[in-house]
Amino acid sequence: MSTEGVLVASLFFDRQSPAIRARKNVRPILVNNHLEDRIILNVPKEKVELWWPNGYGEQKLYDLTVSFKSGPQASRKLIKIGFREIELVQDPVAADPDKGLSFYFKVNGVPIFAKGSNWIPSHVLPEHSANIERVHNLLSSAKQANFNMLRVWGGGLYESDMFYQLCDELGIMVWQDMMFACNMYPSESGFLNSVSTEIQQQVNRLQHHASIALWAGNNENEAALRENWYGTAHNFSLYKQDYIKLYVDTIKTAVKSADPTRPFLTSSPSNGLETEKEGYVSENPQSSLYGDVHYYNYMANGWSWLIYPKTRFASEYGIQSLPSLATLSQAAVPSDLVIGSKFLNHRQHLAGGYEIMTLLIYKNLPQFNSLETFIYFSQINQAMTVKTETETYRRERSKLYDTGEGLTMGALYWQLNDIWQAPSWSSIDYNGTWKMLHYYAKDFFAPIITSPVVTADSIFAVTIVSDLLINISSAQLVIKLYKYNSTDFAPVSDQQFNVTVSKSTEVMRTDLNELLQVCGSDHCFVITQLFSGDPATTEALAPDNFVFTTPLTSAQLPSPNVKIKRVDSRMDYEAVITLQTDRIALFVWLEADIPGIFSHNGFHMLEPKKQVVFTSYHPLNVQQFISHLKVTALKSTM
Ligand SMILES: *[C@@H]1O[C@H](CO)[C@@H](O)[C@H](O)[C@H]1NC(C)=O
Ligand SMILES: *[C@@H]1O[C@H](CO)[C@@H](O)[C@H](O)[C@H]1NC(C)=O
Ligand SMILES: *[C@@H]1O[C@H](CO)[C@@H](O)[C@H](O)[C@H]1NC(C)=O
Ligand SMILES: *[C@@H]1O[C@H](CO)[C@@H](O)[C@H](O)[C@H]1NC(C)=O
Ligand SMILES: *[C@@H]1O[C@H](CO)[C@@H](O)[C@H](O)[C@H]1NC(C)=O
Repeated sequence: MSTEGVLVASLFFDRQSPAIRARKNVRPILVNNHLEDRIILNVPKEKVELWWPNGYGEQKLYDLTVSFKSGPQASRKLIKIGFREIELVQDPVAADPDKGLSFYFKVNGVPIFAKGSNWIPSHVLPEHSANIERVHNLLSSAKQANFNMLRVWGGGLYESDMFYQLCDELGIMVWQDMMFACNMYPSESGFLNSVSTEIQQQVNRLQHHASIALWAGNNENEAALRENWYGTAHNFSLYKQDYIKLYVDTIKTAVKSADPTRPFLTSSPSNGLETEKEGYVSENPQSSLYGDVHYYNYMANGWSWLIYPKTRFASEYGIQSLPSLATLSQAAVPSDLVIGSKFLNHRQHLAGGYEIMTLLIYKNLPQFNSLETFIYFSQINQAMTVKTETETYRRERSKLYDTGEGLTMGALYWQLNDIWQAPSWSSIDYNGTWKMLHYYAKDFFAPIITSPVVTADSIFAVTIVSDLLINISSAQLVIKLYKYNSTDFAPVSDQQFNVTVSKSTEVMRTDLNELLQVCGSDHCFVITQLFSGDPATTEALAPDNFVFTTPLTSAQLPSPNVKIKRVDSRMDYEAVITLQTDRIALFVWLEADIPGIFSHNGFHMLEPKKQVVFTSYHPLNVQQFISHLKVTALKSTM
């Protein structure tokens, strides 16, 4: 059989413009058991619109077909492509080379602060991982929470075509690990050949996706080797040789030959170019002066921003929480649903996981006894910790410290999703229910945020962080103080500041004790708001934010009575919930035992009434919805 034939490539535009075509008579050659040839399609720059990450513009995609005809035989393939440039910028941050290198993504010339989390397989059985409804709900939840990047973790799967197609459409950039994680791997030639084939196949399959920003060789194996996690120190040089054979000689070579256009990192975390310079296993792969870091701290109070590293890019960080009772119930009988049950212990895969969660909860929240309260508190604690940490990373984007640290340009928390009903670091549980963290992520990843903090020397400061490419002048920052235990809803102080919104800028700073004078002997917390002009008449530029100036453990916590006053259906999918409270209520948490999303959740109620909209994934039966709807708020004893 002759393989001589005609290769045609066509790029399609909207109806007005004719397609651009290229046509070539070819005689493809056999390479590694497949026929290979090349055709070049020249596309004038002005003919196409660019593809942008979520938050920066549209995700314009074009149909590209490639067909090959040889005698009576023909085959055709259609893919969707986008036009964009992605660079990973690693430039000296100062004249002194010891101050390290930057580490950030630039898309179409625009530096992008990467916001998002880590993706693990969406089901424990790989054959169920490409369920379109589940994957679509997860990825659109990511977009709704203002994500622009997901890291597909090296301990999981090369995901389905559908997954990357959705990322292309939603503007979610993908940091794609190769599937090597937390282990030392063999280096004999049979294994390396098989790896090489696998990498070429996967990169060939995926490289046309506009969303894929970067390839990385493995998850944490550089750190594991350097820090002797698996007892390799007795012959470091042997394991290092093996490491280089696999990730550099085999994987990097295979990636670069299949896709020379994208940046490649040997490991995550790594020091990027500095790791290469140091021979691929750097002295400290977690250096805050280079590359990315994975940061976990299960001892310190996560609600304090002072504990977090001043890194270039945080590609993993987080703590555990429990999924909702409804989600746990799907895999349990009622007798399993108590603290300490065999069922719950079996599903905890972090050694000492519940003890860690409990100790961290007690740093800020009251004692608890029931599983319901444990779930609620674990989700408050996780939301507050990841909020505090992420805002810290976003504040550091414009800050270069004398040490060379700072200029953080990425915050990907661990982890988006779950493979089963269990305690984990996820922000969305196995059933697709948003944990409190995911509602918080929507706010802390908003394009513009106000971020109030109290410093170690009792200064109260507010930073405004903006991803916008323009500055906004004459914006109005509102700072309100509330007493925790006030019985009316009036703030004890309400101040307004005229500020400019630009990248990350500290816009006000004052002595904390002075600020709190109006509170007398009562304890207060602070709410910050941002408006484009007069707060009474203009739109909010940022979600409302808050900071507890007194740890909750020493505050006079209110015991509010929060009630669901009424529920009205709106269109087929929505329910409008009216809540009522007799005093200020913290961490007001709504649960509905059906799949869907609340417009707000985990919020503080500072008014006697508030409306929240529930949007169901399926047409809503309001009576059924009401019978499952539940509201909880923080009380000093629960
Ligand atoms: C390390 O392994 C290599 C290869 O097996 C061997 O030649 C060398 O002696 C080993 N070094 C040590 C210190 O055990
Ligand atoms: C925004 O303001 C900063 C600080 O004043 C300034 O350096 C920058 O050039 C401004 N950017 C734009 C786009 O106007
Ligand atoms: C805010 O400050 C800017 C610049 O200092 C000034 O031009 C503007 O009039 C002020 N706006 C208000 C509402 O005070
Ligand atoms: C709030 O708590 C403080 C300190 O415990 C107490 O003095 C005050 O009376 C309380 N106020 C109200 C309205 O309960
Ligand atoms: C969980 O998933 C099941 C099956 O898809 C569904 O019937 C149930 O309503 C879901 N529950 C919640 C709370 O989303």
